[in-house]
Amino acid sequence: MRVFSSHKELIKSIDSTKLVGLVPTMGSLHEGHIYLINRAINDNEQVIVTIYVNPTQFNNKSDLTKYPRNLKKDLRKLECFKNIFVYTPSDNDLYKEIVSKNYDLDDLDNVLEGKFRPGHFNGVATIVEKLFNLFTPNNAYFGEKDYQQLTIIKLMVKKLKLNVNIVPCDTVREPDGLAMSSRNKLMNKKERLYAGKIHSLMIKAKEIYLDNKIDNIENILKNELNNLKHCKVEYIKIDNLSKYSDCLKDEGYRLFVACWIGKTRIIDNILLR
Ligand code: PAJ
Repeated sequence: MRVFSSHKELIKSIDSTKLVGLVPTMGSLHEGHIYLINRAINDNEQVIVTIYVNPTQFNNKSDLTKYPRNLKKDLRKLECFKNIFVYTPSDNDLYKEIVSKNYDLDDLDNVLEGKFRPGHFNGVATIVEKLFNLFTPNNAYFGEKDYQQLTIIKLMVKKLKLNVNIVPCDTVREPDGLAMSSRNKLMNKKERLYAGKIHSLMIKAKEIYLDNKIDNIENILKNELNNLKHCKVEYIKIDNLSKYSDCLKDEGYRLFVACWIGKTRIIDNILLR
């Protein structure tokens, strides 16, 4: 593993004739991130893992301050990967001025997460485009855990005609089904226990949907989740995302959930097939 805080130094060490895989992260690494890194190592000759908490995608200052950071621990977790390049920049190495670019993302940045986190996806697109332009990866890896983010990045790549292949990766879960997330660390023991019930309630809702027994599973699931202690639903929606842009293929309907467990925001989604 080689660690760089300067993109210029990292670029000097990359052999541009070899396949490059990129795994962008905000650190506080867990098994979900490690899965993406392993996928990238499998497909590419060189792998760049970036660790950067991107300020422009946080629409709320306290969320940015509170976001868990632990670079030392992250680097220890990555030590076992002998051949990766790790990029851990400061704001200055990436931004002259810490502002988002404005992207035309059709209507996809205004629904679901976009509705509750205004400006979030413009911030995500800004940092991801910067990383693509700096490192010109052949392949870039994103988790289905953040399905709307993955779709937004595919859309940006299409619209800007960027030459990078976006590789979607399955959601990695805790034994009780909770999708792994850096934010899970912010919950106390009791909250964590209740958070573990979200996924099984989503699966139950999916079964009802597939059996065609009831068509308003969004409301049923909303009531069940709101009845869980410490849990408050922000939105529940069945959506296929492709309907927001002519540039997107229909990849099927999904059940999207965003809720608060205490002061921790959790998002998850599952395919309804
Ligand atoms: P972060 O939340 O650190 O996630 C980095 C990548 O890991 C994303 O592609 C995310 O979807 C994926 N990921 C997170 N949890 C996962 C899980 N349980 N299973 C599989 N993949 C998972 O997403 C971001 O950072 C940022 O928005 C970023 C893309 C780095 C831009 O700043």
